[in-house]
Amino acid sequence: MERTFAIIKPDAFKAGNAGKILTRIYAEGFKILGLKKLCLSKKEAEGFYAVHRERPFFNDLTNFMSSGPCIVMVLEAEGAIRKWRELMGATNPNDAAQGTLRKEFGTSIDNNATHGSDAPETAAFEIGYFFSGIELLA
Ligand code: PPS
Repeated sequence: MERTFAIIKPDAFKAGNAGKILTRIYAEGFKILGLKKLCLSKKEAEGFYAVHRERPFFNDLTNFMSSGPCIVMVLEAEGAIRKWRELMGATNPNDAAQGTLRKEFGTSIDNNATHGSDAPETAAFEIGYFFSGIELLA
């Protein structure tokens, strides 16, 4: 079993789509080991996305991610990292395949509904950024 880190981003939460996304997560066979609703501060968003700090969209991305409530989760499944990224679809909703979360719930490259870790090392950092070990229940 593998773990990944996922976010239902502020755009999807604000639009009332969190329930539908959680239903898809269960329907696709993930276990949710941990889940929190929270509002990231600008500083917390900057820390989370520090790897992207030199990119031109860094300020827009961290403003967006600190603009309202989101849901952070630890998901578990066989091949969870790849499986969750496949379910999310391409970063830009315009390029995402039919049936993916970003196609259904994203509206633009900067309002793309969900986040997922891209590698085991990233997942370990991202899970540890939001959860302690005792908060994750199998
Ligand atoms: S990815 O999925 O990490 O390979 O995509 P990448 O292109 O490297 O983008 C990294 C994160 O930045 C977000 N992003 C943007 N935000 C705002 N404006 C623009 N133009 C933009 N381009 C990319 C993208 O959604 C990724 O965020 P996460 O939370 O990882 O999905």
